[in-house]
Amino acid sequence: MSDEQSWIPPRVDVTVPSVARCYDFALGGKDNFDVDRAAVAAANAVAPEASELAKVNRSWHIRATRFLAEHAGITQYLDLGAGLPTAENTHEVVRRINGSAHVVYVDNDPAAAAHGRVLLDDHHLTRYVEGDLTEPDEILDHPVVLGHLDFTRPIALYQSATMHHQPDDLDLPGIMRRYVDALPAGSYVVLSHFWDPGGEAGAPVRRIRESMLAHGLDADHFRSREQIERLFPGLELVPSGPNSADGLVPLLDWWPDGPLLTEPGPVQRCIIGAVGVKR
Ligand SMILES: C[S@@+](CC[C@H](N)C(=O)[O-])C[C@H]1O[C@@H](n2cnc3c(N)ncnc32)[C@H](O)[C@@H]1O
Repeated sequence: MSDEQSWIPPRVDVTVPSVARCYDFALGGKDNFDVDRAAVAAANAVAPEASELAKVNRSWHIRATRFLAEHAGITQYLDLGAGLPTAENTHEVVRRINGSAHVVYVDNDPAAAAHGRVLLDDHHLTRYVEGDLTEPDEILDHPVVLGHLDFTRPIALYQSATMHHQPDDLDLPGIMRRYVDALPAGSYVVLSHFWDPGGEAGAPVRRIRESMLAHGLDADHFRSREQIERLFPGLELVPSGPNSADGLVPLLDWWPDGPLLTEPGPVQRCIIGAVGVKR
């Protein structure tokens, strides 16, 4: 058995790419296979910097988490579609600021769940649940979620780079409404999504989708700003910067850590997101 095969958890199919493993590869992780690396390489070939979308997203996810832990005072986190454990996981970012915060991760990828349980379940304030984020009732009624999070106190709910992997025939705004309805006032929603700016500007991301489809992954949906806005039902969006009242912006523009010394390529702007608060 090769090194690559030695860690394959049960139910992991290494003949087709998986979203979680492609993302892991794009972030520089090791939990991926040839089939995932080939899919990402092909996307980069048709749209330079395609895999930068993952880094842009993860960096924003960390900035948003710091904001929630440090400034919003959130102590409970429900991270849906959390992915494979990476360099800075939500609980690590949070715990640097608040050592007693509770975090529940959810993912439906068997590799993510297997790794997550091993890495995280030994910490009593962090849990990993294998579940489908498009089934809000199942997630919200899950005994681990109910046992670990107190739904009478504010919670941060994450849909960080997850909803663009869901098919068009699902009622995505309805799914988000169900989650938001379950959250108490003072809770936050962190959501990022692949964005098609339309016209010629959107051509590269349409090529990425076609390329992933050709590799057997029908899971990258670049949607319009209007479609993405509908995923924040009844929420007030936190301004994206000191001089911007707009809450939903390219992630690169959301409270950047510092000046960008090089101009990012246009593809890197094709993921937008916001942090919404429930009043
Ligand atoms: C691009 S990764 C994002 C990981 C992480 N949220 C982040 O922002 O760094 C998308 C993750 O969503 C998970 N995912 C996609 N659809 C899902 C579903 N229906 N239920 C649970 N997890 C899902 C994938 O397995 C993958 O780990």
